[in-house]
Amino acid sequence: MDNKIKVGLIGFGRMGRFYLQEMQKSGRWDIAYICDVSPKSREIARRLSPESRIIENEQEIFEDKTVQVVGLFALANSRKEQIEKAFRHGKHVISEKPIADTVVREWGAVKAAESTTLFSTVNLYLRNAWYHKLIKDFIQQGEIGELAIIRICHLTPGLAPGEGHEYEGPSFHDCGMHYVDIARWYTSCNFKTWNAQAVRMWNYKDPWWLQCHGTFENGVVFDITQGHVYGQLSETQTHNSYIDIIGTEGIARMTHDFKTAVVELHGITQTIREERPFGGKNIDILCNLFADSIESGIRHPDLPILRDSAISSEYAWEFLEDAKNKDLPIIGETKTLEKILYRRKTMKDGYGLLQQI
Ligand SMILES: NC(=O)c1ccc[n+]([C@@H]2O[C@H](COP(=O)([O-])OP(=O)(O)OC[C@H]3O[C@@H](n4cnc5c(N)ncnc54)[C@H](O)[C@@H]3O)[C@@H](O)[C@H]2O)c1
Repeated sequence: MDNKIKVGLIGFGRMGRFYLQEMQKSGRWDIAYICDVSPKSREIARRLSPESRIIENEQEIFEDKTVQVVGLFALANSRKEQIEKAFRHGKHVISEKPIADTVVREWGAVKAAESTTLFSTVNLYLRNAWYHKLIKDFIQQGEIGELAIIRICHLTPGLAPGEGHEYEGPSFHDCGMHYVDIARWYTSCNFKTWNAQAVRMWNYKDPWWLQCHGTFENGVVFDITQGHVYGQLSETQTHNSYIDIIGTEGIARMTHDFKTAVVELHGITQTIREERPFGGKNIDILCNLFADSIESGIRHPDLPILRDSAISSEYAWEFLEDAKNKDLPIIGETKTLEKILYRRKTMKDGYGLLQQI
């Protein structure tokens, strides 16, 4: 145990369990505590990690001077206070996104992170995806000429309205902020103009599909389409997820089926097709980069920073706001949403199913 990094996990739902699994697999972590407010989650934690102390009140983790890292995987409403508390108690932070439940509070969390020498990161998982790194490298080699257009689409029958994640916002914020973030990552600059269109599917109060297009400050244009409205009641569910990048001379694109990702690069001198395992949420990569940073005392540059999360979250909210100020049609009925929620509750294997608590 001695050379392992001592960590306390707070929030043991779907994501918390992914972290536990990857940390156990890597052998680099001593998972000293798991905290969750739900008795059912604590019961599952006891079964999956019998060596950990399973607790209801997070305070014990913060007060244990031997805990080096806290993992914040509960919901967005508790995150800012937990981030601040972690730093006050001298602990490094691995956080889920978003880093708080409002933009103002997210910037509060960024301020805390930027006022300490303790390490922090946030799971903007696409930044650690092999396919995006490969595509970015190809672009940087000049293979597609000048980067001109970024098109991103992520449509799945995933988390339905009212099912959970209320503090994380509508699907374009909860899930869509990843695509907002990765578009920024490709261009290395901020958005300049945008025009968003959304639809209030199944008469839900918030839009669950949104498409936004616009420009970046460097002139690159983008379109992002995201929604968890994609065949929720279809007999056999499917999804449509891709990135399509167009330069002045070549193109680079990727699609995946959540198991395998396929990258196709059509450059001036190279034509490449790469097919590799998708990699899921890349939590293994994030945790390893974080463990490397703690062991070396040097923060790994590939670790996403809280500031990037706050920026992407803020733009995702802006795009939603823009759509709300336009024509916002209502299509479908509440009773269809009820059928969807019932189906998801009884499904064993579905897109982004939350743990039942
Ligand atoms: N990076 C990603 O790709 C990604 C993907 C999915 C979810 N997330 C984020 O991860 C977070 C967790 O999502 P999830 O899907 O695991 O949700 P979930 O509902 O499955 O799990 C949340 C867990 O936190 C517990 N909890 C709530 N408040 C708590 C508190 N104050 N203290 C301790 N435990 C508390 C709940 O009991 C539950 O067990 C969300 O903020 C979500 O936005 C990120």
